Amino acid sequence: MRRALVSKTKAMSCRLLNQTSLFHKPTNSYHHFLLKPSSFSLFASPITNTLPNQLGFRHWNSAAQFRCLGMSSAKEMESISYLSQREAAEIDETLMGPLGFSVDQLMELAGLSVACATAEVFKTSEYSRVLAICGPGNNGGDGLVAARHLYHFGYKPSICYPKRTPKPLYSGLVTQLESLSIPFLSAEDLPLDLSDDFDIIIDAIFGFSFHGTPRAPFDALIQRLVSCQNLHHTGLKSTVIVSVDIPSGWHVEEGDVAGGGINPDMLVSLTAPKLCAKKFGGPHHFMGGRFVPPAIIDKYKLHLPQYPGTSMCVRLGRPPQVDISSLRENYVSPALLEEEVEADPFDQFRKWFNDAIAAGLKEPNAMALSTVGKDGNPSSRMVLLKGVDTTGFVWYTNYESQKACQLSANPHAALLFYWDGLNRQVRVEGAVEKVSDEESELYFHSRPQRESNWSNVSEQSSIVPGRQYLQEKYKELEAKYSDGSLIPKPKYWGGFR
Ligand SMILES: Cc1cc2nc3c(=O)[nH]c(=O)nc-3n(C[C@H](O)[C@H](O)[C@H](O)COP(=O)(O)O)c2cc1C
Repeated sequence: MRRALVSKTKAMSCRLLNQTSLFHKPTNSYHHFLLKPSSFSLFASPITNTLPNQLGFRHWNSAAQFRCLGMSSAKEMESISYLSQREAAEIDETLMGPLGFSVDQLMELAGLSVACATAEVFKTSEYSRVLAICGPGNNGGDGLVAARHLYHFGYKPSICYPKRTPKPLYSGLVTQLESLSIPFLSAEDLPLDLSDDFDIIIDAIFGFSFHGTPRAPFDALIQRLVSCQNLHHTGLKSTVIVSVDIPSGWHVEEGDVAGGGINPDMLVSLTAPKLCAKKFGGPHHFMGGRFVPPAIIDKYKLHLPQYPGTSMCVRLGRPPQVDISSLRENYVSPALLEEEVEADPFDQFRKWFNDAIAAGLKEPNAMALSTVGKDGNPSSRMVLLKGVDTTGFVWYTNYESQKACQLSANPHAALLFYWDGLNRQVRVEGAVEKVSDEESELYFHSRPQRESNWSNVSEQSSIVPGRQYLQEKYKELEAKYSDGSLIPKPKYWGGFR
């Protein structure tokens, strides 16, 4: 099939593969400055940085991750707020009193956060069988909701809910789960060794209002979780425990005071971490409950990480080191059949591009551009597709950049699109030419003024004296065109096709 498509066009080859490799996808559209001719790239986002003195340079691999994935450095973690038991209760009362939330709403959002955090770390391909052990209070309700969402995410949940709460909210949750044919197991029905039957155990027994010592039947259930995790630590089993807000049996402020309690693999702190979370030593600490309004943040002077994008959870602390060789995805894609592939590769590209848009993927127009200069060494970088038709794929850049110099020496390039989530990549290879000056002008003036200013200050692929130099250049330009007059396109900026 690949050969058939390649023969469709002489100028360009567009190869379609229904499998791919892993990479981190970028989060935004950035103006990009390379300060040193090396792999160290710094970014300024025209979206988040409106003023030159707010210029936000990012090192793609570290600073960007801090914003996107939560708090990672030890210093950032130290500054995070932890709630006492009293504060946690007060916040709940305020949410459900003057702030107008209902318990159902908060429970739904809390349970959804737990399910999202669980699914983010423990993929269904390896961890599909879930047991939610639910206590009699709100924490148990969060567990019931989490189980329902996990079901819809493709997991196979079972529930152990030994002390059912006879209130409409809880019986409604039970009905919802029963209507999905999710099994309810009594404590006696559970297998002797929980790790035989379950990959994930959601510990939703006790929450932040717990005090004292656990009573039957929960004391025995907690002990079973402890033995399950002891097996795990001997390397025999790999069942993981996810605790909802508080590891059950722990003192809400002091942690596992008696010793020998649960040490969950994941803790999902709701609203904000409670004091006991400082003692959590497991690899995955997340925060969920994305509903805390500024009124509460201000009143309790909370310092909490930002949730990335539209996510319902955010990681606290560094993700654990992973063995790169152990990373693997189970690609589940519909078959790609020759008879279903468009005869024209551009039509196929458009079809897949539309699929990527429909799937809500971020920056589906981001593509890796590879060029080879005089020295014969290839180099790749990301650029953004700004136009496509049967004459080719268009992107814009600085004509004095490394890529542009390489293209003037050797006007051939390869493009690579990768659409994570769809498990698709498109490879494009062909001859490259500059687009007409009129076309570049047209595109340049279609962009917001701020973006145009960045093009003017960007000295791509060259060494600049530093951040301040760029800030000042930007400021000068902003002042020069503050009357709204048209910013001229720099001569050194334009498109390639
Ligand atoms: C997602 C993403 C999109 C980018 N889009 C462009 C672009 O459209 N044009 C561009 O010149 N640089 C873009 N950049 C920056 C380039 O990757 C590169 O760092 C810069 O153009 C200098 O490359 P060079 O020195 O190899 O010429 C983008 C970077 C990222 C991460």
